Amino acid sequence: MGARDLYLVTGGAGFIGSHIVEALVRRGERVRVLDNLITGRHENLAHLIHEIEFIEGDISDYETTRKAIDGVKIVFHEAAIPSVPRSVDEPKLNHEANINGTFTVLLAARDAAVRRLVYAASSSAYGERGTGAKLEDQLPSPLSPYAVAKLVGEYYCQVFTRVYGLETVALRYFNVFGPRQDPSSPYSGVISKFITALLSGQSPVIFGDGEQSRDFTYVANVVDANLRAAVEPGAIGQVINLGLNQRITLNQVLAELQKIIGTDLTPRYESPRVGDIRHSLADITRAERLLGYRPSVGLTEGLRYTVEWYRENRG
Ligand code: UD1
Repeated sequence: MGARDLYLVTGGAGFIGSHIVEALVRRGERVRVLDNLITGRHENLAHLIHEIEFIEGDISDYETTRKAIDGVKIVFHEAAIPSVPRSVDEPKLNHEANINGTFTVLLAARDAAVRRLVYAASSSAYGERGTGAKLEDQLPSPLSPYAVAKLVGEYYCQVFTRVYGLETVALRYFNVFGPRQDPSSPYSGVISKFITALLSGQSPVIFGDGEQSRDFTYVANVVDANLRAAVEPGAIGQVINLGLNQRITLNQVLAELQKIIGTDLTPRYESPRVGDIRHSLADITRAERLLGYRPSVGLTEGLRYTVEWYRENRG
């Protein structure tokens, strides 16, 4: 890969996308962003806006996407409506953004002779099979429209590799957290909601008994894996878990955050969410083997950085 290849980050104004954009800019690459600003925000790229090309547009529109992808070597496809409960409330929106959108990006990438597309897949594809670490070879069992959509995207990636020779890699993100994750919607990621509640002295809400567990992964680890997935030859056509391989319950993560922030607030327990998974833990041996991935930021360290960021940027 030449030093000045052109990269496209779909959803580059979003939480994970903007971190990928930042890493690419830091490395001196040319970066273009395509984002419809539905869940993405201008502020996420404000510090980089003079160093990138920004296109406001929707990935479901072929013409827009084809234009945005022109001359691009590598695509990081992060654009999505990334919420399990939102997909339950708005299944059509989920289908259009996450299935039609991904299909359109793949089609445009094929037509523009892109070399490789790295796709943001989701661990929600696994569903409830077993309580141990999830292995990529396990049969998927999606429990929400969101999980179905993200899984369809994976299948399309694999088929575009086989049928059209477009190199694709699907990274199954487990629960990603970090600076710039938007806490303001009812569909926001739980860590962003916990932190902002605690910082403003409000009781965080826990859906269910709080004994459900997740594999929370700091965003820098995910960025690192994406950059590797863009070049590693062994990753082509593969589905690869991306997590920390560490199980923690919601009650535990809340306790950890209260310790970092210095609060002792009692959470409000509400009914469990429809489509919610009980336990989610990543086996990351495939990522280690195919990508040379080693998560460099641990959970507590990541939580500290994140709290610090919300302290400085709240409001
Ligand atoms: C998350 C991701 C999704 C990703 C999936 C992979 C987000 C917003 N969603 O879904 O994109 O594909 O992981 O596994 O990052 N909860 C509370 N209180 C709250 C909010 C949530 O108790 O205020 C609970 C939920 O019921 C759930 C857990 O926290 O049990 C995590 O929820 P959430 O952060 O929305 O993530 P997932 O649904 O796991």
